[in-house]
Amino acid sequence: MTIQQLFDIQHAILQAPMVGAGSTDLVAAVSNAGGLGATGAAPMKPEGLRAHIREIREKTDQPFNVNLFSPASEMYDQSVKLGTKAKALLEDYHRELGLAELPEPRALFGPAEAQLDVLIDEKVPVISFHFGVEADHVHKIHAAGLKVISSATTIDEALTLEALGVDAVIAQGAEAGGHRGTFLGDYRQALIGTLALVPQIVDAVKIPVIAAGGIMDARGIVACRSLGAAAVQMGTAFLGCPETRIPPLWLSELKRSTPSRTTVTSAMSGKPARGLRNRYISEMESLDEPLLPYSLQYSMSVPLRKKALEIGNADFPTMWSGQGIQLLREIPAGELVSQWVAESGQLSTELAGIAI
Ligand SMILES: Cc1cc2nc3c(=O)[nH]c(=O)nc-3n(C[C@H](O)[C@H](O)[C@H](O)COP(=O)(O)O)c2cc1C
Repeated sequence: MTIQQLFDIQHAILQAPMVGAGSTDLVAAVSNAGGLGATGAAPMKPEGLRAHIREIREKTDQPFNVNLFSPASEMYDQSVKLGTKAKALLEDYHRELGLAELPEPRALFGPAEAQLDVLIDEKVPVISFHFGVEADHVHKIHAAGLKVISSATTIDEALTLEALGVDAVIAQGAEAGGHRGTFLGDYRQALIGTLALVPQIVDAVKIPVIAAGGIMDARGIVACRSLGAAAVQMGTAFLGCPETRIPPLWLSELKRSTPSRTTVTSAMSGKPARGLRNRYISEMESLDEPLLPYSLQYSMSVPLRKKALEIGNADFPTMWSGQGIQLLREIPAGELVSQWVAESGQLSTELAGIAI
């Protein structure tokens, strides 16, 4: 079965769900163009999530994907406290930006259990999970006649997801922007490039593989299809679309950066993620004491990041980005999908006659 048949879509192009970027307009634009639009719903409270899904449905009658973070990612070691050096650094930042006292650490995402109930109740056609998936969630989603997919960053993770019964696996290469989906072992051993990861996962599993990480245009799409991927999932490539509505500062920093500015760091959220390096990341990383667990670490910089974006200060905000950064096109998402489809067709024809 093709991905198009599995998800009832026209083109094998999935827009990556992106917490902190995107809108119902983006989801609808991609789905209306024949791809699979997606929303990153991890921070949404159940009733807000329900309203969000209904808003998507007002804008498209096509299938779409809603993404959650696995319940396992909500667990953390309660004994870890904010270190004295991190506290002093955050207090300095607050003084510098004229902010009040530091916030209390708090969990920013979930609860996935309650969010999933809304997705099932609203019959969201495709549900995706980052950081792994639970067997009973896969059963619940299938029992409701819906599809479930999840990210893998290693062959072991892909095999684990297949055994849990997901409909397709997203092979997330090291180039990818945003959080590493790693849920087994040390993330540093799971920083495998898309070119190496995709064909090995394709050979290891029987379910369709969706390639992700560094795919920015027809060249990446056709390359991943030739590696055996049934589809691609693209995130960074949509960050320049007007519907994505990332803060202007984030977009302008993306446009003036090269791939070497991206870095995989846990300093921002407490879990490894790829984004643009800035002062906050560098200074937080240089403290020789443990960070707070995910997502408490992330919660400590909420006021700081908000204020920095307001005043145009790039030292502090989160600016997730993949390594394909310089290939961004600032055009509407529907047009982007149509261009990729046309250019991929052309490129495949050209390659049919390639001599090696
Ligand atoms: C700004 C941003 C936010 C992201 N947020 C999520 C998310 O909420 N859930 C998720 O499953 N993946 C998230 N990702 C990762 C994507 O699913 C995907 O792996 C990645 O975008 C692929 O690499 P690319 O950015 O090079 O296209 C995010 C990526 C970016 C760039």
